[in-house]
Order: sequence, then structure tokens, then C-alpha cells
Amino acid sequence: MFFKSAPKPQPPTAFFPWLDEEYTVGIQRFDRAHQRLASRINDLHEAMMVKRDRLLATAVFTKLIQETRAHFVDEESILTQFNFPDSEAHFAEHSDLLQEAAEFLRKYEAGNLSALVLLNTLKAWLINHIKNSDRKYTGFLRRQRWSG
Ligand SMILES: [Fe+2]
Ligand SMILES: [Fe+2]
Repeated sequence: MFFKSAPKPQPPTAFFPWLDEEYTVGIQRFDRAHQRLASRINDLHEAMMVKRDRLLATAVFTKLIQETRAHFVDEESILTQFNFPDSEAHFAEHSDLLQEAAEFLRKYEAGNLSALVLLNTLKAWLINHIKNSDRKYTGFLRRQRWSG
């Protein structure tokens, strides 16, 4: 199943190395999804900075946005199912991130955005969202005795 399979391991030298302790939200299903998104950001880094292939980079970025949307839908369906109290703000943040990512894709395709700024921003967004928003549901979901 898409959300349950183990993500591909990333070398510690990767642009976005996955640090279990640092990034975990304590729910395996979501940790794996987040790790998979980080790995996709590494694919994007490779396409942009190593292969320097704009067409490939655009395709990988499009895939990253689709996978991010799928993860947000999954998270939102679980939080809705359990009536998570802070859903509204959390879902609004998802929607803003997707909108900003789509805008980034347009700017990148038009040649108006540097690859490194783009990569660093995506990495910072994911880390920030995990640490400051997603972690707020950990205790709540654990109290629901939901195993993920
Ligand atoms: Fe989230
Ligand atoms: Fe998340």
C-alpha cells in the first residue's frame, strides 16, 4: 500500500538527510509519508543541481506536489475522522503550502526562480510543517488509540 511501504533509504550526505529523532511525529504512517517527501526533494535536488535537467526537474516537482497533496488528503481524512480540534488551521496551512508550491512551479518553469532558493524553501517548509503543525496531532491521535 502506498502509505505503508517503507521509504527508500537516503545517504547521510543527501541534500535532505532524514533524521529520525529530529523529524518524527511518532505515527509511523505519517513518518513514512514525510520521509518519502524528503526523498522526493532529494530527487529534485539531483535533477536540478547534478543533472541540470529542467524538463526532468519540472516532472519531479510536479510529482512532489501530487504526492504532497495525497499525503495532506490522507492526514486530513484521519484528523477529520477523529474530530481533531485544530483541524481548521492545520488544513488551511496545507492549502496555503500547495498554492505556494504551484506558484513556485510556475516561476521555475518561467525561469524566474533559482533552483537553490526553491530547494531550500521546500526543505524548510517540510521541516517547519512537521515540527510546528503535524506534531500537534501526535498526542491527540495516540489518545484515540489509533495505530496508524
Ligand atoms: Fe500536516
Ligand atoms: Fe504531514
